[in-house]
Amino acid sequence: MVGLQWGDEGKGQVVDYLSASFDVLVRYGGGANAGHTVTVGDTRLGLHLVPSGILHENVLCVIGNGVALDPEVLFEEIDALGARGVAVGDNLRISDRAHVVLPYHKLEDSLSEAALGQSAKIGTTGRGIGPCYSDKASRSNAIRVHHFIKPEVFRRRLIEIVERKNRIFAALYGADPLDAEAIYRKFSAYAERLAPFVCDTPDLLHRAIAAGKHVLFEGAQGSLLDVDHGTFPFVTSSNSGACGVSAGSGVPAQAIRTFLGVAKAYTTRVGGGAMPTELTDGIGQTIRERGREYGTTTGRPRRCGWFDGMATAYSVRLGGFNAVSIVGLNVLSEFETLNICVGYEVNGRKLEHFPSDPEVLEQARPILEPLRGWKQDVSGCSCWPELPTAAQEYLARIESLLGVPIIAVAVGPQRSQLLFRPS
Ligand code: IMO
Ligand code: MG
Repeated sequence: MVGLQWGDEGKGQVVDYLSASFDVLVRYGGGANAGHTVTVGDTRLGLHLVPSGILHENVLCVIGNGVALDPEVLFEEIDALGARGVAVGDNLRISDRAHVVLPYHKLEDSLSEAALGQSAKIGTTGRGIGPCYSDKASRSNAIRVHHFIKPEVFRRRLIEIVERKNRIFAALYGADPLDAEAIYRKFSAYAERLAPFVCDTPDLLHRAIAAGKHVLFEGAQGSLLDVDHGTFPFVTSSNSGACGVSAGSGVPAQAIRTFLGVAKAYTTRVGGGAMPTELTDGIGQTIRERGREYGTTTGRPRRCGWFDGMATAYSVRLGGFNAVSIVGLNVLSEFETLNICVGYEVNGRKLEHFPSDPEVLEQARPILEPLRGWKQDVSGCSCWPELPTAAQEYLARIESLLGVPIIAVAVGPQRSQLLFRPS
């Protein structure tokens, strides 16, 4: 299950629903930049690292090798879940190949963003994601979980790395040095607590699949934030699209049977980069308020706009999705007329495909197709046929643009508000 837009598609709700019929749930990429809101009864719970399936008994949650693991956030979450009566123990496994996010990653994230000009800022979540993945790619400065849980190895690497980082931060940003010993003291306690969760997760998953278990891969971020195929450079630093599943979990592509995409009935984006269907007027504001479009991780107001069929269809082609779920239909209930973006125009010429150059995307004007609204509350609909005709027409238009069946639609954030289409 992968997001088809710029993250925040409502993946948490879909995963939470699906988890009940799976044995294993795997996060394959991203880190504490993700924010999945799950609603259980009256409680809204924001999870960043722990897979949302943790709320279900009998589901084994796995944090895969592709994840940038922030031990501080992880244990905050485990403690918050514990306080709500959700025990985390044997139901969580963490890859020994995952990379550890450390304080110098967060410092570098904020220093480098602050040093960029306004239009170049990525608008990161400040969780140290980019610097952690940079260290992974450059290798010698990386600390993986298997280093982290061996005290001597962790300490030695940390001291060497912090010394190098301090020299770089002082030269580039005039920053004060970090104290490696202080970081070691704090993080060695996390490492000790982490060790019982750690294993070779690709091996665990291979065995689970061989034993006929059902495995669900939970994407973080969205296809348009993918470092290779998204709206670079305004993306995250991992393969957050469907192409990241195998690399981030060690499970071969051929073992995966269904790719489910999740998109909102409209579009949101947080952070920098072009968003062709953005509405900076009262309509955008209405979507933001009705959809509670404020970041789970940073609390930032999200940019809101019409459904972007051009961008979402691109994501669908990239991921080879078999089916799509649409979330947040209820948010659009107020409008007399809705618009769907069916293509982009640059200087009066229609683009043939989704652009790779951020300057072209910045100039792209959405070609909007008006559709009639339904002007009635859909949040109480309990099955697909109860949806107003105009709402069904709206979904049918999205479906024709994406070229894959919509199998479910959410009319509100509760578990019971996810309506499956009768087959
Ligand atoms: P979920 O899993 C929405 C965005 C940031 C920024 C860019 C890079 O909740 O869908 P990063 O901190 O990753 O270096 O930031 O990516 N971003 C997200 N936007 N939802 C997310 O995750 C995001 N994770 C990263 O806002 O524009
Ligand atoms: Mg989010």
